[in-house]
Amino acid sequence: MSTLDVRMTVNGEAVSESVEPRTTLVDFLRETLGLTGSHVGCEHGVCGACTVLLDGTIVRGCLTLAVQCDGASVETIEGVSDSGAIADLQEAFRRRNALQCGYCTPAMLLTAQELLARGGIPSRDTIREHLAGNYCRCTGYQAIVDAIESVAQARAKG
Ligand code: FES
Ligand code: FES
Repeated sequence: MSTLDVRMTVNGEAVSESVEPRTTLVDFLRETLGLTGSHVGCEHGVCGACTVLLDGTIVRGCLTLAVQCDGASVETIEGVSDSGAIADLQEAFRRRNALQCGYCTPAMLLTAQELLARGGIPSRDTIREHLAGNYCRCTGYQAIVDAIESVAQARAKG
């Protein structure tokens, strides 16, 4: 199988690898780079477990090819977690029991971070709408919305 060279920035570090053209971004992150915080569920764009930030915008890692990310900047749960960028969201999720099995959680956190990066305090309806592409089979979402809303309010206060 022929390969293509791909260069991107992942969690602030330059990455250069040869990949098969069919390799998805989430497989590249997990299997080539060992960043297993991005999860794989449905593998066809429905569950959202594979969500990562591509140039600051959430994308489905299972519907995005690694070669499409050439020259781009990718952030995964490992990056935003290590940098402390979402420490307040993580704490709010923990405090409000907004996770149970945790399978959806990395993607939920990245999706929430993308929304909160827009600034302001989104309504609960807006939060729910923004999370609509991320399935959680455990929590019923209420606690997740509570956690995100509380962080939005806290960040707005500075
Ligand atoms: S694994 Fe990508 S959306 Fe489900
Ligand atoms: S906490 Fe289990 S799927 Fe969301």
